[in-house]
Amino acid sequence: MFNRLPPGHLRDMSDRISTLTALPGALAHVAGLRRDGYLFWENLRRRRDTSVISTRLLHEEITVVRGADAAEFFYETDATRRSSALPTGLVGPLFGEGPVHMLDGSAHAHRKQMFNDILGAAAVAEVADGAARRWSEEAARWRGEVDLVARTAPLLLEAACSWVGVQLPYDDRERRARDMLDMVDGFGAFTVRQARARRARRRTDAWITALVEEARRSHPGGQTPLEVIARHTDEDGVLLPAHTAAVEVINLLRPIVAVSWLVDGLVRAVDTVPALRAEILSGEVTAFEMAQEVRRTYPFVPFLATRVVEDLRWDDVTIPAGTLLVLDVWGTNHDPRTWRDPEVFDPTRFRITPVTPYNLVPQGGGSRYEGHRCPGEDVTLAILAALAGPVAALPATVLGPPLGVRRMPPQPACRVQVTAGTAPARDVTPDR
Ligand code: HEM
Repeated sequence: MFNRLPPGHLRDMSDRISTLTALPGALAHVAGLRRDGYLFWENLRRRRDTSVISTRLLHEEITVVRGADAAEFFYETDATRRSSALPTGLVGPLFGEGPVHMLDGSAHAHRKQMFNDILGAAAVAEVADGAARRWSEEAARWRGEVDLVARTAPLLLEAACSWVGVQLPYDDRERRARDMLDMVDGFGAFTVRQARARRARRRTDAWITALVEEARRSHPGGQTPLEVIARHTDEDGVLLPAHTAAVEVINLLRPIVAVSWLVDGLVRAVDTVPALRAEILSGEVTAFEMAQEVRRTYPFVPFLATRVVEDLRWDDVTIPAGTLLVLDVWGTNHDPRTWRDPEVFDPTRFRITPVTPYNLVPQGGGSRYEGHRCPGEDVTLAILAALAGPVAALPATVLGPPLGVRRMPPQPACRVQVTAGTAPARDVTPDR
C-alpha cells in the first residue's frame, strides 16, 4: 500500500541550485542552510557529485556523512568526542549547561545509566497514557480554529510534570510549555528566536533548580524522577550541582513537550493522505507504524555533530583530527539506498525495510545504553502511537500552508479547523 502525499506536502523539497555562490564557502553554507534547510546537504552532495562533503562552516572544518553505514561509523568509532563538538553558546539554550549530551566516556555512561533507569517501561506507559488521556479529553471540546501545537504542548507538559514529580499550577501550564517550545525553537537560530530561547532557559532553570533544592531538603529518599535526579552523584560520588541536576530534569520535560511537533506531523499526515484515517481506525495501518513514519518524515532534528580526535577515513575520504563529523539525520532518514520513494509517506514501508539501529535515526542511532542515542525514544513512540487513533478520529482539517523543509525546526504552530466534537475513538492498539 502506498499513501502518496500530494507534491505540495513538503512544499520546498525541490532541488534548488544555490544562487549564493559569490559568497565565500563558509558563509555561503550558513546562507544556504537558512535557505535550503533540511535539504541543504543533499543539494550540496548532488552539486558536488559526492557522497561525503568536506568543507568549512564558519570557523570549523566539517565532514558531513549520511546513510545507515555512515550512521554506524558515526556512532561506533571511539575516536570522537561530544564534549568539544558544539559550543555551549550554541547548545546552551537547548540542553542547558553540563548536560548528558556533552559528556564522554565513563562520565557519560554513568549519567546515561540514570536516564535509562528512569525511562523504563513503567515510565513509558505512564507518560503515554497521561498524554493520550489529557489530549483526548481536551480535543473533545475543541471547536472552530485551534492552534494545535499551542494546545498540545501544555497537555504534554502536564503529563510530563505529573510523572517527573514537578508541581505545575494550572495557571502556569501555558507559559511554562511556551518556554519549553521556545528553547527548542531557538536552536541554531539567530537574533530573535535565540534571544527568546535564552530567556526561556533562564526562567526554566530557575524554576527547576528551586525544586531540586527543595527535593534535597524535604524528600532525600523520594522515588520520583525529580527526586532521583536531585540526589544523583557523579562517578566520583559527588552530588551534582543543583543547577546541573535541574538541567537534567529539564532534559526529561522539554523533549516530552517537543513531541508536540511530531503530533503536528501526525495531524498533517492524516489530513493530507485521505485513506489514512480509515486505515488507522481499522488497524490496517498500525499506530506504531504511523509513529515511525511520522518520525522518519517530519523535519525535526536536522543533523548531529561530534569532534574527531584522531585521523579517520570514511568512504575513501580522510577526516583529520579536529574536524567536526556531522551526521545528516534528514539525509539518512530519506536515503533512497535504504528507503524506497523516501519522500512518500508510507507507514507500511517498515514491513519491507525493517528498522535497524542505524537506518532510521530521528533520535540518534546505535545503542541507547552504550552511546548517545536518545533514551526517550520509547516514550516518543508510545505517545505518538497512543495519539494515532484519537488524531484519526478528530474531525479536523489543517489550515494554512503545507509544512516546509526550510525552517529548522518548523514553525511551532499548526492551525486546524475542528468541525465538530471528536468521533468516538476506536481502541487502536499501539502494537509493534
Ligand atoms: C520529539 C522527540 C524527540 C526527538 C526528535 C529526540 C531526539 C534526540 C536526539 C537526536 C538525540 C541525540 C542523539 C545523539 O547525540 O547521538 C537525543 C538525545 C537525548 N534525548 Fe531525545 N528526542 C526526543 C524525545 C526525547 C524524550 C521524550 C526524552 C526524555 C523523556 C529525551 C531525552 C534525551 C536525552 C536525555 C538525550 C541525551 C542522550 C545522551 O547524550 O546520551 N528525548 N534526543
